Amino acid sequence: MAQTTALGKVYLLGAGPGDPGLMTLKGKALLECADVVIYDALVSPAILAMINPEAEQINAGKRRGRHSKAQDETTALLIEKAQEHAIVVRLKGGDPFVFGRGGEEMGDLRRAGVPVEVIPGITAGIAAPAYAGIPVTHRGYSCSVTFVTGHEAAGKYCPQVDWGAIAQGSETIVIYMGLHNLPHITTALQTGGLSPDTPIALIRWGTRPEQAELIGTLATIVAQVEAAQFEAPAVAVVGRVVELQEVLGVGSGK
Ligand SMILES: C[S@@+](CC[C@H](N)C(=O)[O-])C[C@H]1O[C@@H](n2cnc3c(N)ncnc32)[C@H](O)[C@@H]1O
Repeated sequence: MAQTTALGKVYLLGAGPGDPGLMTLKGKALLECADVVIYDALVSPAILAMINPEAEQINAGKRRGRHSKAQDETTALLIEKAQEHAIVVRLKGGDPFVFGRGGEEMGDLRRAGVPVEVIPGITAGIAAPAYAGIPVTHRGYSCSVTFVTGHEAAGKYCPQVDWGAIAQGSETIVIYMGLHNLPHITTALQTGGLSPDTPIALIRWGTRPEQAELIGTLATIVAQVEAAQFEAPAVAVVGRVVELQEVLGVGSGK
């Protein structure tokens, strides 16, 4: 990639999972003085409301099957905007470096000679379960947690996830982007040694006012999703920590 003369700097900013109160102080201050903000589809309206009203706002949102801007196009846009403006914010849901392609964008910008800084955000895989009353680790229940993509395919985050190794190696499993593949994932985890009775929770739009939860087991959850017409975006939590929802779930986080 050709080197460029950048006037400004790009900030890869984590928006958190949706509740505006979970935006970092550093992130909020940047949004308030940004010249340009290029944001993803999952960033909540309450966070977008923090953006400097004078700033140029561009939706680079990507949802399953709806790529409003391809990755290369987004990177080219960031480079272009950094040549024209001082503060360019690339606003991503959750944390930019957790299934957010933040590392790829940062690498491209560095190679192009554009100054870039990452500002972490709270990832959905911790915050959504927390608001549902599910700690991802808990003494006596789970001392390990794995964050994994359920969106496995050639060209995606991971060509093939080793669900058997994950079933054996981690007491809590938090799955991002897994709703579409849930029949495959729940079968693979059971083939990998987990009991059909293993609890699983799905949390949709976690930390937002419209948060919804579905609790079941590896054996039942696929039918429950169909019956409830439960839709993405959601994280799935697998493991005994889900049992804590009964005690910790009432009004937690909200
Ligand atoms: C491309 S990944 C981005 C993850 C993000 N970088 C993060 O750290 O949370 C998108 C997936 O994150 C999960 N996700 C993001 N926001 C969510 C929310 N508020 N509630 C539940 N799941 C969410 C869903 O699994 C969704 O399909």
